[in-house]
Amino acid sequence: MVVAVLQGSVRSERMGDRVAKWVISQLKARGHEVVLVDAAVLDLPLLDKMWKELKRGSDARSAELRGKLRPVAELYARADGFVIVSGEYNHSVPPALTNLLDYFLEEYLYRPSAIVCYSTGGYGGVRAAMQLRALLAEVGMSSIPSLQAIPKVGQALSVDGLALTQALAEGTVQFFDEFDWYMAALAAGRKLSDPRRN
Ligand SMILES: Cc1cc2nc3c(=O)[nH]c(=O)nc-3n(C[C@H](O)[C@H](O)[C@H](O)COP(=O)(O)O)c2cc1C
Repeated sequence: MVVAVLQGSVRSERMGDRVAKWVISQLKARGHEVVLVDAAVLDLPLLDKMWKELKRGSDARSAELRGKLRPVAELYARADGFVIVSGEYNHSVPPALTNLLDYFLEEYLYRPSAIVCYSTGGYGGVRAAMQLRALLAEVGMSSIPSLQAIPKVGQALSVDGLALTQALAEGTVQFFDEFDWYMAALAAGRKLSDPRRN
């Protein structure tokens, strides 16, 4: 399966890096092709035009953004699933993550998403995750039932994305199994009839 991992924190001292690294290693261990979509690397401006509008824009700004976003659009077109790595800012979704998601819409359809949320506090970002669920359903990549929450992220993961707690090292099988199931089920559904091509 092809999995896009979206990392939506752009803070210079972000914890999201270690979470994304951990997610990527878990997915690769399951044999998936994994590609990171990092909001900090893309350095996108606050949304003016969506990808579908940028595609036909003739101005210099559209051309520059097209260059940045074309590889992302190509990745999304062949992705079987999306893992959304989300911190929690004021009990809500980090704005750079929302901004990254908002550039696309049709490109997400008929694929599942899985939320990996985290925070330096004890709740692991679950309040943001509840809002993220509504957003992901709206853009057409409904999230799987299980969440992977990582509380006290600085103690749970090393800077290299290695699990430092037993709970994280051993307790995540069901989450990734479930994601695999949804990816396979929706891939089979798209094979029967792909509404994106109808
Ligand atoms: C603007 C802002 C708001 C925050 N609000 C919350 C919050 O509501 N709940 C929480 O548990 N942590 C909160 N935190 C702490 C974050 O969990 C912590 O900074 C985490 O590392 C953020 O992810 P990042 O480092 O990848 O950006 C907040 C941090 C920032 C910068």
